[in-house]
Amino acid sequence: MTKDLENDSQVPSFYIVRDDLIHPLVNGNKARKLDALLPFLEDHSVTDVVTCGGCQSAHAAAVAVSCAERGLRSHLLLRGEQPDVLTGYNLISTMYGNVTYVPRSLYADREEMLIRHAGLVAGSSGLVVSLNDMLEAPWIKQKGGRKVAIVNEGAGDSLALLGMIRLLCYLSENHLFGKERTVKFVVDAGTGTTAVGLGLGAICLGLPWEVTAVMLADSIEQYRKRELQLIFDFRRHFGFNLVHCSNRMDNGVVTWVERHQPRKFGNVIDRELEVCQQIAQQTGILVDPIYTLAAWELATSLSEKEERGGANVVMLHTGGMLGMFGLAQRYKSHFRTLKDQSNG
Ligand SMILES: Cc1ncc(COP(=O)(O)O)c(C=O)c1O
Repeated sequence: MTKDLENDSQVPSFYIVRDDLIHPLVNGNKARKLDALLPFLEDHSVTDVVTCGGCQSAHAAAVAVSCAERGLRSHLLLRGEQPDVLTGYNLISTMYGNVTYVPRSLYADREEMLIRHAGLVAGSSGLVVSLNDMLEAPWIKQKGGRKVAIVNEGAGDSLALLGMIRLLCYLSENHLFGKERTVKFVVDAGTGTTAVGLGLGAICLGLPWEVTAVMLADSIEQYRKRELQLIFDFRRHFGFNLVHCSNRMDNGVVTWVERHQPRKFGNVIDRELEVCQQIAQQTGILVDPIYTLAAWELATSLSEKEERGGANVVMLHTGGMLGMFGLAQRYKSHFRTLKDQSNG
């Protein structure tokens, strides 16, 4: 955890939880989402994992690396064609997992695609299981053969929330934020799973902490809908421990806000790379224009509001740095015009 200290003591500052440093190849929030999932798969004697994502999917790479670290085989269905140059998360997925590129027309029906591929991996003697099967059905016994688990794109299921709760447990220890301080957590939201996990964690642990998430990919109605679904699933799967705080979840657990300059998801706009470069050179912290810059901007404006004795503003740095390599491939002209800031 670091505090973003500027030389000028008048400039408001905020804390940053450096989850970007949690693993050299696995995105911070992907590592958290897999924190409970992978031991769960191992407990159920899974041998293979099938999942999917875009060509530069941080999720697919995280699954590939984390499975290899635990002796599981991963099978990654990536959307579109193999690029000429393998780089970023695409390169990592290729090094650690078994990659298959899927034409966009087939990828459109993800569920069907995942089931079909998992069936091929399992073969005639194997078994295909989904996370829901394992969470809701009694233990499925398997004699020999492969046991193939399907993990949905992004791994945004109720199991993913547990890793975020474990993070809050750690941050609320006395030598860090403790349980009494008022904290305003800021995070960027793709599917919103990370933000909901943090919000649920604060409630379950009885912390006076709020979570504000910048919406990057959808309308507020869609984020709210997903939030309620996740809360519903969380209660269904893990509710036995939640009697003391369950009603505090009824109205949602996250404040959703628009991005400073809203746009279609994945678009980089003028000047954003220069701002990322400036932040990197001034603070030693790299943010990317798609995800973490949005949280940085919000943390900056919140810390200005909280300047005089208000809450501690804390940005969760979700990582994603290898995504910059994919962006450099895709937005060549933006990257070509980056200049050395010190020369103007
Ligand atoms: C770096 C980074 N930050 C944030 C997110 C969004 O996380 P979530 O989908 O849980 O909202 C992602 C998702 O891909 C990501 O890669």
